[in-house]
Amino acid sequence: MCGIVGYIGKEESLPILLHGLKTLEYRGYDSAGVAVLANGSVEIKKSVGQVALLEKALEKETGFNGSVGIGHTRWATHGVPSEQNAHPHTDCQNRIFVVHNGIIENHKELREYLQTKGHIFQSETDTEIMPHLIEHFLKEGKDFTTALFDALKMVKGAYALLIMDALQPEVLYATRLSSPLVIGVGDGEHFLASDPSALIDKTKNVIYLQDGQVAKISRNNVDISNVDNQKTPFEVIRLEWNLEQAQKGDFPHFMLKEIFEGPEVVRSASRGRMKSKENFVKLGGLTEVADKLKEIKRIIILACGTSYYAGLVAEYLFEEIAKIPTEVHFASEFRYRNEPFENGTAVIAISQSGETADTLAALRKAKEHGLLALGMVNTVGSTIARETDAGVYNHAGPEIGVASTKAFLSQLTVLTLMAAYFAKDKHANEPILAELEKIPEKIQQILGQSAIIETLAEKYKNHENFLFLGRRYNYPVALEGALKLKEISYIHAEGYGAGEMKHGPLAMISQDFPTLAIIPQNGVSEKMLSNLEEIKARRGPILAIASEGDKKVSSVADDVIYIPKTIEPLEPFLTVVPLQLFAYYMGTKRGFNVDRPRNLAKSVTVE
Ligand code: AGP
Repeated sequence: MCGIVGYIGKEESLPILLHGLKTLEYRGYDSAGVAVLANGSVEIKKSVGQVALLEKALEKETGFNGSVGIGHTRWATHGVPSEQNAHPHTDCQNRIFVVHNGIIENHKELREYLQTKGHIFQSETDTEIMPHLIEHFLKEGKDFTTALFDALKMVKGAYALLIMDALQPEVLYATRLSSPLVIGVGDGEHFLASDPSALIDKTKNVIYLQDGQVAKISRNNVDISNVDNQKTPFEVIRLEWNLEQAQKGDFPHFMLKEIFEGPEVVRSASRGRMKSKENFVKLGGLTEVADKLKEIKRIIILACGTSYYAGLVAEYLFEEIAKIPTEVHFASEFRYRNEPFENGTAVIAISQSGETADTLAALRKAKEHGLLALGMVNTVGSTIARETDAGVYNHAGPEIGVASTKAFLSQLTVLTLMAAYFAKDKHANEPILAELEKIPEKIQQILGQSAIIETLAEKYKNHENFLFLGRRYNYPVALEGALKLKEISYIHAEGYGAGEMKHGPLAMISQDFPTLAIIPQNGVSEKMLSNLEEIKARRGPILAIASEGDKKVSSVADDVIYIPKTIEPLEPFLTVVPLQLFAYYMGTKRGFNVDRPRNLAKSVTVE
């Protein structure tokens, strides 16, 4: 939830830190701070609000001219947004400086213990116990690395930590447990960040620190040790991304850019993984568990938010294409359920960020029960990706907008391929794979209607309530469409299975309560039509997503967005795109920051 940056090298650290913090602001923030080590002393500056305010406050400062530094954007979990609570935090001697992402769950006991040892605290944060705990062990005569390891052994919870010692100007320390931290490898310099987009314009060679590891980083060297302080080998990964991908390009918002990347992410998620004419699907990441997959009798999908709705689509795909019974759980519920598991059960954790705390916890619970743990993740090297037995990356590139859009389409692509991969009767896959190859072009056609959808947003933007309806493969799309509208325009929007109308929601319908109905031509469109008649009879406005050429819908709906026809299992690829655009335009027309909606963060790395 917070953003961490660090630098040790030959350049001035301050501009690098500030640039990195600005790139990470999308993760959610309420305050920011930097600390720079110059000539044996540390200069520190913190401010409430955007990084731009911190930058302005620094204009008047001198002394921030060192080539080693750390920085932080804070999304408050313990303690209100304030300068006192902003990071970095330090010890009683102002020697050790720490920035942190995560939650130290036993911070209260540790604070009380340290106070009995005479430590004075300046903030209300959990983070501040870290520099004092290290100081405590240094006072016992231990060297810095031992003091750090001893401190970490006492801490419970999740953390990515960057630590700077005023008495060691040649090194920075980094460590993580359940929160991401990446080291960018330069020439005579190293960069640190919560995610690679903050350092990608400096280097594409990165090291993903793994849980429990501690890195000691100098200008020309990185030493990584495991929890027992034993040196461990590590891998330098070359990122596929370039800066342009992580920037907006000529779009006003990341969200719109990422919606327009829809066709490309479907292509990149399927590239090299299927040959429709030969009925061929190859998911390299599952090869090592291919034998185990043959015995799978049940699949449990674990996810949150949009990834959960992709999982609901997969429930239909896996059951109707692969004929495997499938259930989908909110990870936040699964982690506390006492569900009986039968042999031959596999879980699939779906996560764009690969760092969602609830999904990680649910995955770990499934592994404790001996289930085969698969993953479908977008962020290479992320914690969830590394903790699964096997998995498939989305290759959707960085998704910066808090609202997940292109990731949803790439998830649908991989899940469709998985369904075909799991299917025993491979001949049934041919029409699906052949149609999947046409999907990017069909999405492109829908994107061509963005001006029409913008006009509809103008018409509906003052409504405060919306009902989204769909059936079968489009029921999860109704839920996802409602989530998009909620989180971007703050309108109360509910997604519902259309068959449920009579069981309650119909009571809400009035001319002030519009319905967005997903009604492509398929086996249940007549049923959908009668639902719409019920709504129309109660003067409820209807905005429909319908198949090109469907005249029946226009006789019932007030407005219709037409989409190309496709086969039913692939309908979500097309029906979701108008909903993403509709939410985007509703949010911008209502004057909100659609890339960073209020109260939300891109990666929910705390429970
Ligand atoms: C969706 O637009 C939201 N940003 C949110 O629901 C998100 O999908 C959820 O937090 C899961 O994130 P993940 O895919 O990174 O695990």
